[in-house]
Amino acid sequence: MASIREVPTSPAKRFERIGAHTHIKGLGLDENLHAVKIKDGMVGQEKAREAAGLVVKLIKEGKLSGKCIILAGPPGTGKTAIAVAISRELGENVPFIQMSGSEIYSSERKKTEILIEAIRKCIGVEIHEMRKVYEGEIVSLNINTAPHPYNPYQRVPESVRLTLKTKEEEKTIEAGASIAQQILGSGISEGHVVQIDAETGRVVSLGLSLESTKGKTYDVDTRRKIPRPEGKVLKEKEFVYMLTLADLDEINARSRSGSFFSLLFGGSETKEIDTEVRMAVDQQVKEWVDQGKAFIHPGVLFIDDSHLLDLEAFSFLGRAMESELVPIIILATNRGVTRIRGTDVKSPLGFPIDLIDRAVIIATHLYDAESIREILRIRAKEEKIEIDDEALEKLTNVGAKSSLRYAVQLLSLAAQNAKAKGREKIVGKDVERVDELFMDVTEAAEYLKKYEERLMVH
Ligand SMILES: Nc1ncnc2c1ncn2[C@@H]1O[C@H](COP(=O)(O)OP(=O)(O)O)[C@@H](O)[C@H]1O
Ligand SMILES: [Mg+2]
Repeated sequence: MASIREVPTSPAKRFERIGAHTHIKGLGLDENLHAVKIKDGMVGQEKAREAAGLVVKLIKEGKLSGKCIILAGPPGTGKTAIAVAISRELGENVPFIQMSGSEIYSSERKKTEILIEAIRKCIGVEIHEMRKVYEGEIVSLNINTAPHPYNPYQRVPESVRLTLKTKEEEKTIEAGASIAQQILGSGISEGHVVQIDAETGRVVSLGLSLESTKGKTYDVDTRRKIPRPEGKVLKEKEFVYMLTLADLDEINARSRSGSFFSLLFGGSETKEIDTEVRMAVDQQVKEWVDQGKAFIHPGVLFIDDSHLLDLEAFSFLGRAMESELVPIIILATNRGVTRIRGTDVKSPLGFPIDLIDRAVIIATHLYDAESIREILRIRAKEEKIEIDDEALEKLTNVGAKSSLRYAVQLLSLAAQNAKAKGREKIVGKDVERVDELFMDVTEAAEYLKKYEERLMVH
């Protein structure tokens, strides 16, 4: 199995697509699973939120396996918002992946391949590992250099001798070129608290020691300061990593192809990961779980505009739902009865009947003006935008007339307009102006119809 310490993964990257939903902190239910009108960033849509609350309960008790959730409702009625809220309710370490049904169509990759990858990105694996590390504040550091083997005029670090101090003891260790280079490369010097992995030699600086002379003198230093570590210098420590099955697949595939190769000829980023690798990863993860070294956190795979999936994709998802390592699958659509893509069959929501049979369906409804006003108010606060009453009223009308999503977009645009005019606060004029400049869907459709014959058609 590949080393698990070398993944430059930052989960934050994956969550950026939900920018419009940052105000959603949960479903906003009380302890009896009743929706509180305004809570956790959620407003109105009580029935759907309560339904989602029950579903979360089922998920937590492990009773939703083999099923999926369908969110059905007009555009801008909070389908995505509810999916985000469900993932928030499931816990902190739960991955949330959002994709559109149209994303499975690519000229380079198979549809099922794209879906498998999405599914594996949604399964979080929390790995606990005991590692032997040398840990302490560096009290003395000597790096020995030697002439470069290919260029004798240059000197390179050859070995290092350093003394580490904890509250309990002081120990001097000697190490080779790789550790010396890491220390030089990351600017580690006396006064730093470091961790050196006893086996792999990876060096991590934790910050400046508060007890060191450097830590004491640099008052305005922004570097992190931490107390001198307790205990012995050489100790066993538990490390926790949050990865996903997709991360583990990648590490495994890379280590199989040999990292030297990819070092010279670039990484194998777009290379498809074969089934064999995935099976090996599943096997390994299951072993870790059995040994108590890992915990699985199934996340949420949210597929927006799911009516764009075709029969092949639906049957693949159906099969995936029955397997062991599977996330919560949420499909959203704004279609009524429509053709299932790739067939002549008409069906509710554009989904195959057997899938609908195995789903819990939650409907979202259009908002009243009061809810729209409240959601806009929350969004304004979230985006740190000031807005006066007249402008809020105007935006609320826009939201009621076209869609909430359009109103939320106009809010950010109106803020930009106000800023351009040198104002801190959005006023009525700003909303009027951006509403004039931009189109909602109906306006766009009308416009296109009107000038149809003059627009270019290929
Ligand atoms: N009940 C709600 N409470 C708070 N914000 C909401 C609610 N419903 C929708 N929103 C927000 O309004 C905007 C549009 O909703 P969205 O979830 O994108 O609708 P849909 O996915 O149904 O098209 C988003 O910014 C969303 O976070
Ligand atoms: Mg949506």
